[in-house]
Amino acid sequence: MVQKVAIVTGTSNEIGFSIALLLARNGFYTFATMSDSDESKDLTDIAKREKLPMEITRLDPSNCDSVNQTVDRISERRKQIDVLVNNAGYGLIGCFEDLSMEEIVQEFETNLFEIVRLTKSVLPVMRRQKYGIIINVGSIAGRIGYPAMSAYIASKFALSGLTESLRYEVDQFGIKVVLIEPGIIKTSFVQTGMMARKATDTSSPYSQLTQKVHQGLRFLSEKGTPLEEVEKVILKVVTSDEPRPRYLVGIDAAVLVEARTRMSDVEFENFIKKELGM
Ligand SMILES: NC(=O)c1ccc[n+]([C@@H]2O[C@H](COP(=O)([O-])OP(=O)(O)OC[C@H]3O[C@@H](n4cnc5c(N)ncnc54)[C@H](OP(=O)(O)O)[C@@H]3O)[C@@H](O)[C@H]2O)c1
Repeated sequence: MVQKVAIVTGTSNEIGFSIALLLARNGFYTFATMSDSDESKDLTDIAKREKLPMEITRLDPSNCDSVNQTVDRISERRKQIDVLVNNAGYGLIGCFEDLSMEEIVQEFETNLFEIVRLTKSVLPVMRRQKYGIIINVGSIAGRIGYPAMSAYIASKFALSGLTESLRYEVDQFGIKVVLIEPGIIKTSFVQTGMMARKATDTSSPYSQLTQKVHQGLRFLSEKGTPLEEVEKVILKVVTSDEPRPRYLVGIDAAVLVEARTRMSDVEFENFIKKELGM
């Protein structure tokens, strides 16, 4: 049987790191991409020790030519690309007025346009082979609004819309597009996520609200859903003949979606305000 091939982005850390290992350990020839291959040491060591079918691949997702060259190289060498996991992304904390245009644009660049570039490049390969699974790592933040996170949330809402729409278009070619929507996962995401420059300014009229949200997220991330729950969902998707459009990960995500569905807009807004003591 021909060995399946996977590409995973954002593998120098946390979720991407564990998805790359998971796929390689389950027999996928895995290209673990990262923006800076100097960050690859831990992944390289594990892959070598366990003799995993994995290649660490430097990818500059901000440049179409570089993305196309990387995808061409992979498809020429391995002849197929079965799974693409668009995982790279980061949180940006700060109330809307405290976010600079550059910070908002960069957030969309990483969380949406880098995914657009890579997906556009991989789709012709999947279309020719009449098979493929594209997994976009979204978030529960792509379902609900929340203060001090508008840019991150808007980027994840956009990714949700892209995923849902693309799914219709490429189904005819045997390609499945899936959105993974984790709640808060126990990772360094909140610690390493970007704090907008002006959001740290205590003279900002939004300073108190931003601090409250940031502290709340730090607290929740310490109690977050273990990474293994994300891995279980990814394994379910890549081994399914008919993966669903969306997969929530974590009890917090399920509870929030249930509440959002059950409550009216105003009830839900009041529920969030109460949680935040607003
Ligand atoms: N952790 C959570 O609680 C959680 C919850 C819901 C959704 N998610 C989503 O899951 C995905 C992975 O999150 P994670 O927790 O594993 O996060 P992470 O470790 O902070 O970052 C994941 C990857 O994103 C890239 N990245 C991070 N910060 C960046 C920046 N400032 N500029 C450009 N690229 C940056 C890096 O890719 P390279 O390796 O290529 O450098 C990094 O390895 C993200 O899309 C995130 O939105 C996470």
